[in-house]
This record gives sequence, C-alpha cells and structure tokens, in this order.
Amino acid sequence: MAKARRVFVCTSCGSAQARWTGKCPDCGSWDTLEEQLIDKNAGRDTHMGVAAAAALLAQESDHADAGAAGAAPAAVPIVDVGKDAAEVVRHASGIREFDRVLGGGLVAGSVVLIGGEPGIGKSTLLLQGAGGWAGAGHRTLYVTSEESAEQIKLRADRLGNGAGKQPELFLLSDTNLARIVEQVRKVKPAVLVIDSVQMIYKPDVPAAPGSVTQIRRCCADLVYLAKLSGVAVVLVGHVTKEGTLAGPRLLEHLVDTVLSFEGDRYHAHRVVRSVKNRFGTTLEIGLFEMTGRGLREAPEGSGVAAVTGGGEPRPGSIVCPVMSGTRCFLVEVQALTATGFLGAAKRKSSGLDASRLAMLIAVLEQHAGLRLADRDVFASAVGGVRVVEPAADLAILLAIAGAHHRRALAPDTCVIGEVGLGGEVRAVPQIEQRVREASRLGYTRLIAPMAVGKAGVKGLTVAPVKNIDQAIAELG
Ligand code: TYD
Ligand code: MG
Repeated sequence: MAKARRVFVCTSCGSAQARWTGKCPDCGSWDTLEEQLIDKNAGRDTHMGVAAAAALLAQESDHADAGAAGAAPAAVPIVDVGKDAAEVVRHASGIREFDRVLGGGLVAGSVVLIGGEPGIGKSTLLLQGAGGWAGAGHRTLYVTSEESAEQIKLRADRLGNGAGKQPELFLLSDTNLARIVEQVRKVKPAVLVIDSVQMIYKPDVPAAPGSVTQIRRCCADLVYLAKLSGVAVVLVGHVTKEGTLAGPRLLEHLVDTVLSFEGDRYHAHRVVRSVKNRFGTTLEIGLFEMTGRGLREAPEGSGVAAVTGGGEPRPGSIVCPVMSGTRCFLVEVQALTATGFLGAAKRKSSGLDASRLAMLIAVLEQHAGLRLADRDVFASAVGGVRVVEPAADLAILLAIAGAHHRRALAPDTCVIGEVGLGGEVRAVPQIEQRVREASRLGYTRLIAPMAVGKAGVKGLTVAPVKNIDQAIAELG
C-alpha cells in the first residue's frame, strides 16, 4: 500500500506547501491553500500516468510514432530541424472569427484551452466550432462533462450552422478520463473537445474532481495524447472573476494556445482573444454576437462597442481605437458645447475622466484659441464603455473642437494620440494593434501621433500630426 503524504496546494497557482498558511507564499493570494493527501508514488508519477495514456493510444494509432515516447532525443543543428517534417496541418472550422484567432485553424496535435466565466458562451462557441470541423470532414468528438448528450443535441439543433445534423460529430457524456481516452481510441477523431476540464477526473488520482491535482494530471495526459496521436484537443476551463477556482491559470504553461472568451452581461458582444499562441499571433481577436441561434460573427465594419456611425460626418463625434487590457475596440467619443455662464460653465463627462476633460479644455483654450470659458462642455463615451487611457485624449479634444466649430471628420477616419499640456500630440503604446483593428473594422484613415510614422496597413493610411493645430485642421 502506498504511503500518503499531506500537502497544501494553492488553488490559484498550484504550488504545493508543506504547511498551511493564510497567504500563498508563491503567488500571494489569500486563503487559497487546500489540504490534499497525495499518494507518494502517484504524486511522483505524473509521467507514468501520461505515458499510460499515450501508450493506450499508441497501440492503435497508425500515424503516431510509437517508439518516440521511449527514444532519447538527440541534439540536432537548427538548420536540420523540421526538414522532413510535414507542414503544420490545420483544421479550419469555417467560423472566420474563431479560425483567425487560432492563427488559421486548429493545429493537429495541439492543445487549446478556452477560459471564460460561466455562462459566457464557451459551450456554444465550441459546439458551433465542432459542427464546423465535422462539416469540413474532420471527425470531432465533443465530450461534455456538465450536460447530457440530449441537452447538447437540443442546443446543436438550435444553432444556426446545423451542428445537430453532422454525421461526423460525436457526443459523449462522461467525466472519467480513462473512459474518455477509450472512446477516443474507438472513434478516432481529428478533434477532441473536453467541456470542461474542471469536471473530468482520473480515478487513480486520490484527489477530488476539480482539484488542482486532478486538473493538472488530466490536462497533462491530454497534452500527451494530443502530441502522440495528432488529435487536436480543445479544453474548456471556467474562471471566476475572483480567480479562486482551480483552473486555467494552472494550465496555461501546459497547453499550446490559450484563448480567453470575454463579454459583458449587458451587451450581446463576445470577444475571443488569444492570450498565448504557439501557432499564431496573439494580436488577433474574434468578435461575436450572442443571438437566439448561437453566436453570430460580427460583420466586418462594426465596432465591438459603441460605434453608432452611419456614414454621415457628424460634428462632435470622433471614433478612437482604445485598448482594454490587451484587447482593442473602437469607441465613439461625443462632445457638445452649449451656451453657459462665464465663471459657472459646466464641464460634465460620462465614461471619461473628468480631470482629463478639464485639462483638454484648457489646452484647447490656450493653444488652439477656442473660447470655452462661457460654454458648457459635455463629453461622453458612447455605449456605456469607460475610456480611461490618455491615448483617447486627441479624440476627446477633436470632438470638443468639432462640436464648437461645427466641423467633422470624414466618417471613415479615426483618431488616436495623447495630448500634452503644450498642445503637442504624443506617442501611444500598442499602435500596431490599434491600426490593425481600425483597418479591420473598415476605417481607412487614422490620425495619429508623429512617432507612428506613415506605416499603415493595407487599406488604412496614417495621417501623422505633430500638434493639436494640425489635428484640428483635419476637421473638414
Ligand atoms: P453556454 O455556452 O452554456 O455558456 P458556458 O459554456 O460558457 O457556460 O451559454 C451561455 C449563455 O448563452 C446561456 O445563458 C444562454 C445563452 N445562449 C443564447 O443566448 N443563445 C444560444 O443560441 C445559446 C446556445 C445560448
Ligand atoms: Mg458550458
């Protein structure tokens, strides 16, 4: 009988401590250490467990190199690496926004983790994706560990892309990893979806499903299975706002690609962005809208949030590509100036920083000769978004100047830049991503700081400006 060892595992970062403490010494989060009994042998045999799963598959897999698992790897010159390896095989789902985030499709033998809060639509996205993969002839096994196969079937029938009618799409409702691997051997899918990784368990691991130990071991096995058999594995992981649930954070370094599925409860918009991607860029995002028939791809030319434009130039309204975390979206900033009283003029903002607004008004008065002392100024970010970054300064400033002079920019122009107290337009970070997003959403011109240079992308020209005078001159 193996001896059990007692350790305290952090549910946030997965580190194991010998003693319980209130604060995890590794990641600094509070009250996350959980007692766990670890079988001394099982605890060390992560590789044994993985090898067992791999061996299971290797027995039957025809395209896997069964000997590779045991053979010791030898160092090779970099120029010889991959000489006789085949091109990366990608399975496209046909969902344009999803495929793009993946870098052109799901790579055979890779492991993708999709994280997101419960109820955001991960299952919907993957079921739609599964329908797409199966429809393109890539046999897909969708393992649901939270719902029954009937529930999934009902949902699939409701989806717009006919996932419920794909003969190459298989459903399995199970939580036991050994049985799931068994089914993988039988069905031989090209794509395996596990929804969700928190609910599956290995019976030989003495820890509860959803615990750090279980999740890590199951994930490691699935990674091994993917590498050996060439099956593309997609894992779903829940994260809570507090991040207290054991989950995706622990797995990020194990998998090839980490996608994050985000959205706002009050809006139908959903964003898939890539946090890590070994087979593509992390600059791409995918935009969707949740409808009664599943997720609909956001059509080209529509903003994620808050762009109400309709082709008409409107004074006092400027579109600006802002960053929120690592994701970029276009926000419309509006301003209005109205008659006020000298000395008691109102400056009101909604969704924008009030002190920043006061500063921009002062800059306009001092350096652009606008007389706003007896004008009420109202400014807002449309659509309930909050714009806090200084990179939106120039857009706010042009909205006020445009409202004051009744002049507008062309509707396909957007604006980015920080404004200094001297009236100069300063450089902003992550310009490449903003340019790309603006171009993707149909904008053809970007007024930007000098530092950006004239480097646009296809279909978008950059108009660099040095100071606010040059920017105001752009108002038609
Ligand atoms: P779901 O994909 O189950 O979320 P997750 O797997 O991330 O927990 O579904 C999320 C929500 O989306 C659910 O509350 C209902 C809604 N929804 C729609 O609005 N339309 C649809 O067609 C589907 C399938 C779900
Ligand atoms: Mg779900």
